[in-house]
Amino acid sequence: MHLQQNISLRPYNTFGIDVPAEFFTELNDIDALEELTELAQQKHIIGGGSNILLTQPVKGLVIHNKLNGITLEKENDTHVWLRAQSGEIWHNLVLYAINNGWGGIENLALIPGTVGAAPMQNIGAYGVEARSAIESVTFWYWNERTLLTYNNRECSFGYRDSIFKHRLKDKVFIASVVFKLSKQPQYNTTYGAIKQELEDMGVNELSVKAIAYAVMNIRRSKLPDPAVIGNAGSFFKNPTIPIAAYQRLHSRHPTIPSYPVSKTLIKIPAGWLIEQCGWKGYRAGDMGVHTKQALVLVNYADAKGSEIWKLSGDILNSVKEQFGIELEREVQVW
Ligand code: EPU
Repeated sequence: MHLQQNISLRPYNTFGIDVPAEFFTELNDIDALEELTELAQQKHIIGGGSNILLTQPVKGLVIHNKLNGITLEKENDTHVWLRAQSGEIWHNLVLYAINNGWGGIENLALIPGTVGAAPMQNIGAYGVEARSAIESVTFWYWNERTLLTYNNRECSFGYRDSIFKHRLKDKVFIASVVFKLSKQPQYNTTYGAIKQELEDMGVNELSVKAIAYAVMNIRRSKLPDPAVIGNAGSFFKNPTIPIAAYQRLHSRHPTIPSYPVSKTLIKIPAGWLIEQCGWKGYRAGDMGVHTKQALVLVNYADAKGSEIWKLSGDILNSVKEQFGIELEREVQVW
């Protein structure tokens, strides 16, 4: 294993923040996990680096996950089970699935990051969450020095949430994920813009490929490409509020968008709240709020993670002041 010292993490996070890691190594082979267990007390895993904000130099060992590969575990008349290694690029898995006509993750096309992040934060977009396709997650438990497998239920998935952000936080290394995909897909085009985009594309017959391409078009039109402008996707979660609170807000702001979650709860797009507070397109130096989607904070060149952290606090405060709603950060802050 090649251990490096004091190297810049800039190429390893999509925000493009320049902070050093005390120690750094790449993991190409699952058998090396045993050796890594010994190596350092503090371990941090980086996959695509697409959901982290680095606010200070990182102490301990940063492990860049490069485990890749997708294999067909089993299949029957209706389904296939694919095992993807955690360092595999997420979008490659989506392409593999749609090229075979297998359904379940086509709405999640073009989400940046790796397969390992999918269960961690239960990635989601356009009406679908990864949890609906995840059969099981296999992870290395550092303290026990053993590989364990949790089924879907044991992962305690929630909105951008799982057991890996709570009880198992910093305790495990996600090694691979098994996805159950359908040979007879049920298409999910309920999310507003998809139907319109399919129409604009001139699609007459639905397919997983057509849906994935529609999603890719929508994402490209709204979300900044991290290769061009540093960002980590949605910086905040969409808040869920009680119906009574929503009704009070609605009477003051009749145009407020909302999505019912249950009989008593309603989800409000944080992007709308942030835009109403006047932040959309805000820029100070190299940091700012994306011009087309207020939920995304951006680094135009050399912003510091600590500055973006401070900006996110200012946004939190103004939303709290204007709407009485406490936003929660979605990105992991190091
Ligand atoms: N809106 C505004 N102003 C904005 C942004 C949004 O008014 O600047 C309002 C609009 O009414 C819009 C609605 O919010 O119709 C929803 O916006 P959008 O469809 O862009 O989705 P979102 O709720 O802001 C969530 C996810 C995204 C995912 C999209 C599409 C979260 C935190 N974010 O955003 O996920 O791509 O839905 O499904 O749930 C990510 O997690 O990194 C991410 C990009």
